[in-house]
Amino acid sequence: MSNATDIFGAVGMGYVIVESERLADWRRFLKQGLGLHEAAADDDALAFRVDTHARRFMVRRGKAEDVTASGWQVRDEATLAIIRQRLADRGIAIETGSAEEAEFRGVTSFIRVKGPKDMAIELFTDALPADEPLRMLTGGFVTGASGLGHFAITSKKPEKMLRFWQEIFDARLSDRIAQPMAGIVLDITFLRLNERHHSIAVATTRGLRLDPIRTRIQHMNLLVETLEDLSAAFERLTDLGYEMAHEIGQHPNDREVSFYVLSPSGFEMELGWNALRVDEATWKQGYYNAISVWGHKPERNSPVDRLLLNLGNFRRGLGSLLSPEYSPL
Ligand SMILES: [Fe+2]
Repeated sequence: MSNATDIFGAVGMGYVIVESERLADWRRFLKQGLGLHEAAADDDALAFRVDTHARRFMVRRGKAEDVTASGWQVRDEATLAIIRQRLADRGIAIETGSAEEAEFRGVTSFIRVKGPKDMAIELFTDALPADEPLRMLTGGFVTGASGLGHFAITSKKPEKMLRFWQEIFDARLSDRIAQPMAGIVLDITFLRLNERHHSIAVATTRGLRLDPIRTRIQHMNLLVETLEDLSAAFERLTDLGYEMAHEIGQHPNDREVSFYVLSPSGFEMELGWNALRVDEATWKQGYYNAISVWGHKPERNSPVDRLLLNLGNFRRGLGSLLSPEYSPL
C-alpha cells in the first residue's frame, strides 16, 4: 500500500451538507442565530458562507435531518492522487461528482466515497471564490489552514473509524478524554488533520458498544475569532428561542471556550473561541478524565428533563445494538 508519503497537514474540512425538511428554521438558525453570510436560498436549498469560499454550509430539502455529506479540501492534485490510490488499495469505490453537484458545493470538481456511518466523504482541491464582501452578524470565523470546523461522531466501531482517517488522511492523535455520563463511560479520541486540534472526534461507549445518537454526527463545531463574537451569538440564539444543549464552558484539551446549541435537525452545533493551534514540534498527547474544565451545563436540567433525555438515549442505544454501522474498512 502506498503510504510512503505523509499527507498530514494537506487536508482540511471544506464544506458540509445537511438534509432537512426544516429549511425555514435552518435559515433563521444560520443567518440570524449563528450569523453566517447567506449566499443563496430558495424552497429547496440554502447555502451559506463564512469566509472567502463561495459556499461552506449547505442545507437541502430531504428527510434525513442529518449531515449527509462533508467535503474535504486537499492541497493539490498530487495529494489527491495519493488519497485516490489509498482508497483504491482498500477496495473503496470512488465516484466522480457531476458538474451540477460541484456547483451546489461551490467547488470546481470533486470525488466521493461512502465513508464511516454512511456519510459521503467528498474530496476537492479548488473552491470557487466568493464574488461579494461578507455580510455576517459575526466578526469572523477561523478557517484557512485549520479548515471549516470539526465533527464529533459516536461510533460502535471506533477502531475502524479512526483507522479510516489515519490510513487515508494521515490523521494524528491529539489526545483522549474519558467522560463518565449517565452511568456509562464515554471514550473520546481526538484526531487532527492539520493545525486545528481536531477535525474529527470519535466517541464510543466503554464495554457494551451502543450508539445513543440518531444522527451521523453528535455535533459540528465552528470557531469564531473573538469572545465578543461568541457571546453575541449566544445571546442571538437564546433570544431566537434555540435551546442550549450545553451552555458556555471550556474544554481541557484544546482549551476552547464554547457552547452547544440544538440545531433544527437535532444534532448540536458547537460554537467556540480561542482553541489552540497544535505546534507539531512540541505537542504531547494528553489524557483527560472530563470533557470540560468548567461550564457546559445543559440548559434543561430538571430531574424530569434528565430522566426523559436518558430514557430516550437509552432506548436509542439499545436499538443501536440491532442496527449495523457501515464502515468502509
Ligand atoms: Fe467539539
